[in-house]
Amino acid sequence: MIRIKTPREIDKMRRAAQITAAARIYAGKMIAPGVTTKEIDKATESFIRSQGAIPSCLGYGGFPASVCISVNDEVIHGIPGKRVIRDGDVVSIDLCAGIEGFIGDCAATFIAGKPRSEEDVKLLSITRQAFYEGLKYARPGYRVSDISAAVQQFVEANGFSVIRDYVGHGIGSEMHEEPEVPNFGKPGHGPRLVKGMTICVEPMVAAGGWPVRVLGDDWTVVTRDGSRAAHYENTILITDGEPEILTLPEPEA
Ligand code: MF3
Ligand code: CO
Repeated sequence: MIRIKTPREIDKMRRAAQITAAARIYAGKMIAPGVTTKEIDKATESFIRSQGAIPSCLGYGGFPASVCISVNDEVIHGIPGKRVIRDGDVVSIDLCAGIEGFIGDCAATFIAGKPRSEEDVKLLSITRQAFYEGLKYARPGYRVSDISAAVQQFVEANGFSVIRDYVGHGIGSEMHEEPEVPNFGKPGHGPRLVKGMTICVEPMVAAGGWPVRVLGDDWTVVTRDGSRAAHYENTILITDGEPEILTLPEPEA
């Protein structure tokens, strides 16, 4: 069942999403050569709590941290730890914050220090733009897979691939609600988009092929071919017209 949010619930979603977006900025500013992923996680957790919110990823399905930090060939669900970020690393952060029973969710990818290649820079910008390509269809009159198809077409037209094994999702009082929002598929399928739906559109893009595997820590998802990956996500609200990006403001890419 897709939960349509009331105006009161939407206000709470906005609040949660604003804190989530601020936490993304906070974590993004910390990404630099020499910093450990655990340091970013711990400081960002403190930031979220200082806003009166809860880091909703912590303990979710047993996830052991507040921020998913995925480096280079890691696509999503990287566990923060002793790993030291190096110059040129491609670092994705994905986090959630909950307040008054509602949750915001967003992600972004950054390059620490000096980019190693033009391809890495392009990977980040295509992934981010893919979100906006999908957003064009995030309004009544379209269906979920119209978003999916727009993301896939844009990414593949630019020579990259979209991850198939993980998808975007509805969000509200639960981090993951219906509907699923894939980043691939043919247009014209899936639920119709309706005012009051809150969903996460989150392109996960690999520079090489899309097959992935999960590491022995049972969380970290990496590309099978070792190619680098990027992730960009916002929580959005379907309205009568233009969708509202709830997880703004955002950092410059
Ligand atoms: N924020 C992620 C998403 O986009 C989920 C993180 S998994 C968790 O759906 F275990 F860390 F919570
Ligand atoms: Co999400």
